[in-house]
Amino acid sequence: MAVLVTGGAGFIGSHTCVELQNAGYDVVVLDNLSNSSEKSLERVAKITGKEVKFYKGDILDRDILQKIFDNEKIDSCIHFAGLKAVGESVKKPWEYYNNNITGTLTLVDVMRKNGCKNIIFSSSSTVYGTPEKVPVTEKTPKGTCTNPYGWTKSMLEQILSDIQFADPEWNVILLRYFNPIGAHKSGTMGEDPNGIPNNLMPYITQVAVGKLPELGVFGDDYDTPDGTGVRDYIHVVDLAVGHVKALKKIEEKAGLKIYNLGTGVGYSVLDIVKNFEEATGVKIPYSIKPRRDGDIAENYADASLAKEELGWVAENGIKEMCEDSWRWQKNNPNGYN
Ligand code: NAD
Ligand code: UD1
Repeated sequence: MAVLVTGGAGFIGSHTCVELQNAGYDVVVLDNLSNSSEKSLERVAKITGKEVKFYKGDILDRDILQKIFDNEKIDSCIHFAGLKAVGESVKKPWEYYNNNITGTLTLVDVMRKNGCKNIIFSSSSTVYGTPEKVPVTEKTPKGTCTNPYGWTKSMLEQILSDIQFADPEWNVILLRYFNPIGAHKSGTMGEDPNGIPNNLMPYITQVAVGKLPELGVFGDDYDTPDGTGVRDYIHVVDLAVGHVKALKKIEEKAGLKIYNLGTGVGYSVLDIVKNFEEATGVKIPYSIKPRRDGDIAENYADASLAKEELGWVAENGIKEMCEDSWRWQKNNPNGYN
């Protein structure tokens, strides 16, 4: 039996393919390559010694989905495919709702028609909105999202929960990721954003490699120890391993489960700059800029439920995250190109 990995050529998906193949799973990837390169899958094959079965296509396309179910023995799906740029989602809400929500509804419909009712979904800490208190547990109420991207995650959590409630044959695991950074230790796979990065770590590594002149720190007047925003950064390989553990849980008939995947430690923007400089020896020039719209002061996870129920904890600390992000960027200044 095989696992269908939608969005498997992307940042988190490709790292998850490595961990799945290393754990002995057969992997089938469906990706339209709208935000990724097929080269990531060549790297997966190189690292694991096993080719990844790849279908280039869209989750909105029922025909290709049906073809996959006809050709492969799929018994579960890890669903990463989605658009994820927060700012772009504000400008193109229709495209985001259509791709992420209609795409997931299409995927899930074809799955159930083929008797496959096991899904792990990529959700986000963004569903907590502005939490009243940190760390957040899975019982922390969901909040108001600040952009259409966030709403697609929040709505899809509800949709998948309702589907599981109506038909308990479904096993649905919603994984709320905190801030994934880092890269595979080999330095051959990592995050490859289009254009100027929006997220902190790829921005820092592009400053470090000389592609960008300096980092803008968005606000130093938050109610945090040094005034800059605090987040829970998690190594992408730890996150990938979390999916393998979630798949084992699905195999035990999970029903509906929700897990935070984070380290439980919050770092400020300036902490990250300092840790990056220490880990790599590269200086990061920065200047303080106004706050970014939609940003919150701090968020980090209580990930004890994932530890208890999945036996999962993040193994890599901030030093490894910085070292590994840098190794990837330094070896591949232009990403997969
Ligand atoms: P990514 O953009 O690198 O990967 C997503 C992949 O999905 C890409 O390869 C893209 O080509 C593909 N895709 C998009 N729409 C598709 C469609 N309609 N049909 C087929 N393929 C499609 O992003 P990522 O960082 O690897 O994120 C993976 C998932 O995790 C996404 O759903 C994202 O929203 C979620 N997530 C990411 C983060 C993060 O910080 N990276 C945090 C929380 C949640
Ligand atoms: C953002 C998204 C979130 C998404 C996540 C992963 C917003 C409001 N939220 O989270 O929905 O799930 O990315 O894709 O965009 N920072 C700087 N300078 C920069 C970049 C970032 O100071 O050039 C700061 C931010 O203000 C924040 C921290 O670094 O305090 C982390 O930012 P980022 O990496 O963009 O992640 P989030 O904002 O947490």
